[in-house]
Amino acid sequence: MAVSDGEHLLVYKELGLVNTVELFKKAVTGGYALPAYNFNNMEQLQAIIQACVETKSPVILQVSAGARKYANQTMLQYMAKGAVEYAKELGCDIPIVLHLDHGDSFEICKSCIESGFSSVMIDGSHLPYDENVALTRKVCEFAHSQKDYVSVEGELGVLAGVEDEVSAEHSNYTQPEEVQDFVKKTGVDSLAISIGTSHGRTKFKPEQCTKTADGVLIPPPLRFDILQEIEKRLPGFPIVLHGSSSVPIEYVKIIEQYGGKMKDSVGIPEEQLRKAAKSAVCKINIDSDGRLAMTAMIRKVFSEKPDEFDPRKYLGPARDELKKLYAHKNQEVLGSAGKA
Ligand code: G3H
Ligand code: 13P
Ligand code: ZN
Repeated sequence: MAVSDGEHLLVYKELGLVNTVELFKKAVTGGYALPAYNFNNMEQLQAIIQACVETKSPVILQVSAGARKYANQTMLQYMAKGAVEYAKELGCDIPIVLHLDHGDSFEICKSCIESGFSSVMIDGSHLPYDENVALTRKVCEFAHSQKDYVSVEGELGVLAGVEDEVSAEHSNYTQPEEVQDFVKKTGVDSLAISIGTSHGRTKFKPEQCTKTADGVLIPPPLRFDILQEIEKRLPGFPIVLHGSSSVPIEYVKIIEQYGGKMKDSVGIPEEQLRKAAKSAVCKINIDSDGRLAMTAMIRKVFSEKPDEFDPRKYLGPARDELKKLYAHKNQEVLGSAGKA
């Protein structure tokens, strides 16, 4: 249901948010990518804002279908408004986008747009090409005709991987021959592509990887050749990478040390993301790494202090670790630090 303040539907500018258009232009020409971090609760949101204020980075706050179910769309939208004020209070008015991640119907996109989201993704990547075009165009027509232009991300090509709400058995790389036609027919503002990333903490099967002497799995490289072909056909057009967690081995080890089971974890090496961020890739989606960081710290506290039962005492360290992780991403991986 659309949310109103009693008189009129909320528009994102009233919440202090921005859309992605100008941010992506700057990112493409500046050779960096914006962080798109998922959030479901207050601690994650605080960590994102603290890290982005400290590193002076613009940020995209992403809300997935799972997050809407878990936390409630209205809660999340007002939390994003709170985040805008919190950033100011911390001393830096960074640009903040509130984005629907993997919207799977026109109705969900419409509902988010009418309740103050400044950007939406319509993920028609599992549909036959013509149906993906028709659905994406419908969302663009609605989003772009709002009083305040809402930006739209579309997707071509399928990412493998399983999460609560986003799953596919096999990946299909994006076909560069389709991208121009898709962008022209739909009017999307950015395009998510499939070049070897995938959702979750197990991005490749062990048999697809090589192993270092100490047993660390090294995945095959991303398909930069496909990315180049896409860039040739859409010069300067904003490209998005989903499934871009690096699955840091330190977190995997801490989780396992304190009783967790994280077999066959493998992510996208940071150097590859850094290389992608220097190209037309201007939005990089990261969720799983945050889950790992929080889980590692919570397990550690539970194990070291079995009598602790104050949630602030285990969520606090998890939040601090998350902040460190996001600041590192902005500074060392995405290059978005200092671009706010
Ligand atoms: O791409 C998916 C995100 O990581 C969110 O997944 O629906 O389990 O929150 P979720
Ligand atoms: P990860 O699972 O690699 O963090 O990807 C998140 C994502 O793509 C959200 O849309
Ligand atoms: Zn995704």
